[in-house]
Amino acid sequence: LMAEKNGYDHFMLKEIEEQPRAYRDTLRGRIDEDSQSITLPDMMMNPEHIREIKHIQIVACGTAYHAACVGKSIIERMTRIPVEIDVASEYRYRQPIIQEHTLVIAVSQSGETADTLAAIREAKLSGARVLAITNVVGSSVAREADHLLMTWAGPEIAVASTKAYTSQLIAFYLLALYIGQSIGSMDLAARAQLLTQIKELPDQVQNMLGHMTQIEQIAEHIAGYHDLYFIGRGLDYTIAMEASLKLKEISYIHSEAYPAGELKHGSLALIEDGTPVIALATQEVVLEKTISNIREVKARGAYVIGVAFEGNMELAQAADEVIYVPRTDALLAPAIAIIPLQLLAYYAALARGNDVDKPRNLAKSVTVE
Ligand code: AGP
Repeated sequence: LMAEKNGYDHFMLKEIEEQPRAYRDTLRGRIDEDSQSITLPDMMMNPEHIREIKHIQIVACGTAYHAACVGKSIIERMTRIPVEIDVASEYRYRQPIIQEHTLVIAVSQSGETADTLAAIREAKLSGARVLAITNVVGSSVAREADHLLMTWAGPEIAVASTKAYTSQLIAFYLLALYIGQSIGSMDLAARAQLLTQIKELPDQVQNMLGHMTQIEQIAEHIAGYHDLYFIGRGLDYTIAMEASLKLKEISYIHSEAYPAGELKHGSLALIEDGTPVIALATQEVVLEKTISNIREVKARGAYVIGVAFEGNMELAQAADEVIYVPRTDALLAPAIAIIPLQLLAYYAALARGNDVDKPRNLAKSVTVE
């Protein structure tokens, strides 16, 4: 097994650093340069099927659910088709409303998660068409779904999912653009612009990974705390949820993700002198609001670590320190801004002497409901 780690101390770090490659492989062959459009032949969903979709439900667990949260947001913005998201273990017990043209999307790295499989079966019984986004060819999820959109992250060994999550994001960008071009909800210029930025992501992530020394210091700082908060609005909140899960599962530090505007409705009472708050601030449209939420927590003594696009000087003034990430379109922010936070979880777990690749109480794929 040592050999497979390729000289890395842990699979998790190896998998974090493989992300540029995973992005390239998940994009490969799916962008037609001449027409600036997406081709997803392996999905076997023809334009008629796509045009019929009136409503989408996404089911997944854990990190895959957090990818679904991003998926909802981008599909709705690019296509205006309403999307619901469910944690798979809740889906079938809430009597979900499946209509004639509901598409159900199941997201699972392993393709063997029992809760997700149960949700797929429920959806199929009700007559829904099911599309699987998975990382394992021939897995149960892949076999039971009607349509398949593979992520090409390669085998993920560490319990904490990293490259599978970001590859799921890439799959959702491709899917949203594909639906958008099929139903004509996006003009060609907007699509071409977004495609250009998607294609830049692998190089941007690769460059960023070479300049992340600041993260180790921040990790050592937070490793001494019991509680920590991640805040953000819009897509920044979805990043916050995933960052919080990553930190919890391997560092065992209690953390919560909060929509930044919701803190003042209760949880602000938990902020004490020194409490670390990680504030995601990549979404320009809500930047001013997020900054005022940062001021609220700072006024109660929080130590604020911002995460923002390079050049965001307002955040440097509002926060105690800032992790800068390469600038991209706001819709693509999760595929870039999660990466330093994956590393933060990794180094915090190391600082606490934990078994990074095999955290206590957890299994890589959960085959019981
Ligand atoms: C991720 O870090 C977790 N270990 C976990 O939440 C995982 O994403 C979840 O169990 C779903 O697994 P799947 O993608 O294989 O279905």
